[in-house]
Amino acid sequence: MNKVCIVGASGKLGQYMVQHALDRGYEVVGVCRPQSVGKLEPFKGRITIVPGATNDREVIEKAVAGCDGVLTVLVPWGVQQYATGTAQAVLDHAKPGARLVFSCGWHISRDGQDIYSWKLRTFVKVFGSLARLLRFADLDDQVEACRRVFASGRRWTVVRGSDLEEGESQGLPVWSRHVGDPILASNITRRVDFALFMVAALEDEALVQEAPAIVGCQTPSVLAAGAER
Ligand SMILES: NC(=O)c1ccc[n+]([C@@H]2O[C@H](COP(=O)([O-])OP(=O)(O)OC[C@H]3O[C@@H](n4cnc5c(N)ncnc54)[C@H](OP(=O)(O)O)[C@@H]3O)[C@@H](O)[C@H]2O)c1
Repeated sequence: MNKVCIVGASGKLGQYMVQHALDRGYEVVGVCRPQSVGKLEPFKGRITIVPGATNDREVIEKAVAGCDGVLTVLVPWGVQQYATGTAQAVLDHAKPGARLVFSCGWHISRDGQDIYSWKLRTFVKVFGSLARLLRFADLDDQVEACRRVFASGRRWTVVRGSDLEEGESQGLPVWSRHVGDPILASNITRRVDFALFMVAALEDEALVQEAPAIVGCQTPSVLAAGAER
């Protein structure tokens, strides 16, 4: 892994990923909306920035050229299939064999085997309906984006984040194939560690074609599982 592209680099998760990727010595190309370029000022001179919408196929084609890995922040904002367009552009233009790592939330299910709490089910139902009604987000767009990733023959990983919080790193999160596994019960991860997991996944063969649901490694549910073993 020499050169990586971060699609959605200017967001909170994106900026943490840029830092982790630089810490690993990777050459970094970041894609972000033109109005957000200023948010990447702290990395000036250390990364290449390709300004543009992340669902713009020409922008993605240019940004991922020669990259061994692509880290993509999938967000459901708007009702123009932004996430689906972003994922498709990455799937179509990343070089053959590149590691492709996408972010999303626990609400995405790869195989329908996840067991969700009533709280999460209610949130998805209420937020999803309200967001679509007010036309500021479309959760189904993120679902479709991930469906396309799962169906691709690419070397993908879809990292499913729990609820997030800010704070110093606690270390690499723990993961499980399915939400509902008691180890995930604490449902909280530091955003900096979500980013750490995304970047570490680039070189983790065990995560190829997996959709890990993650949780912070110092959370009570993880510590309790450790004590039981
Ligand atoms: N927030 C949570 O509690 C949570 C929980 C679980 C999983 N996740 C997942 O974590 C990832 C990052 O989420 P985050 O909440 O932490 O946000 P974030 O890192 O701040 O990222 C938000 C991204 O969305 C872009 N964006 C914002 N408004 C937009 C718009 N109207 N149109 C297009 N793009 C827009 C931002 O670009 P600009 O910099 O250009 O604004 C940025 O790249 C996502 O994949 C999310 O599904 C989040």
